[in-house]
This record gives sequence, C-alpha cells and structure tokens, in this order.
Amino acid sequence: MSILDIRVLGDPVLRRPTTPVTEVTDELRRLIANMYETMYAAEGIGLAAPQVGRSDRLAVVDVEGAKYVLINPRIVSTQGPGKEIAEEGCLSIPDIYGDVERPATVTIRATDENGNEYEATGSELLGRCFQHEIDHLDGKLFIDYLSPLKRKAALSKWEKAKGEYPGSIRKVRSEVKGEHHHETEM
Ligand code: NI
Repeated sequence: MSILDIRVLGDPVLRRPTTPVTEVTDELRRLIANMYETMYAAEGIGLAAPQVGRSDRLAVVDVEGAKYVLINPRIVSTQGPGKEIAEEGCLSIPDIYGDVERPATVTIRATDENGNEYEATGSELLGRCFQHEIDHLDGKLFIDYLSPLKRKAALSKWEKAKGEYPGSIRKVRSEVKGEHHHETEM
C-alpha cells in the first residue's frame, strides 16, 4: 500500500465530474486500499477519488469506526428533522473550515469493494460525510455552500496558504500527527 498525493483547491480534477465505475477490479481495490492509507495518514474521515487525482466515482469513509467504501454512491432519500448546520473541512482545502447546512440524515445506495450493492443511513457526522463525499464526485466542494462573504474570507485565507502546495499537490507525511484540526476534514 502507499500514501497518495492529495490534490488541493486549484487542481481542475476537483471540479471535474466523475465517471461511474463499471467493474470492481483488483486495480480498483488497490486504489481503495491506498485511499484508506492516505486518508488515515492525513487524519481525515473521508476521501474521494478526485482528491487523489482520479475521476472514478469512488470514495472511502471512516467516521468513528463506521467504514464504508462508496462505489457509484447516490442519495436515495433524506430525512428530517430539517437541516443541520455544522462545521466542515476538506483534505483538499487544508486548515479552512466553514459551517455548512445539510439534511440531518441521508440514506445512500452504493456498491462495496466486493461488488455488492448496499444501502446505508447516516446521521450527524456520518450523514454529513456521505453528502460531502458524494459532492466531491460531482465536482462540488463545501466552500460552494458558504455565504458570499464567508466564501470570500475562506478564499483569501486559502490564497495565503496555497503556496505551501506547489502544483496543487499536498504531500501527506504520515509521521506528522495532529498537524491539522482533523475531526471534520474529509
Ligand atoms: Ni473534501
């Protein structure tokens, strides 16, 4: 297994829509294993294929031990009670956070690494992570949800920080733990 480079805001791959996976191959399973390793090294709770430069409709999630491989995921329903606002961050926009309003609970349908279709329901952080990752697969980022003023502030903070990531590439160093405020980075 290997740790992959994470693409950061500015790399066009993050805005490109993904292509559905047609077959779960060994190559795809290796990518999934590498994405988990990368996500853990970066101390995130979710990681989508575009974040490692791939346009496959694929993401991995581990929210407090709830692990899901999301191949061709889609939201089949959202449940109340209404929407919830909570802070989000993204491994592709390090150290930038913002409050995002989303449905509190969602049910998704996806395929796992063995090619089996499944349904899963997530609330709170898990439901939020499902939605954030599925957004990635549609070329959408959490900053898109911020108010114009908050988005402007986030982007001007990013303008100052992005020099740390030449070529829009974030080298993940597994030995540096606790560098980022990771609980909500996905
Ligand atoms: Ni993200």
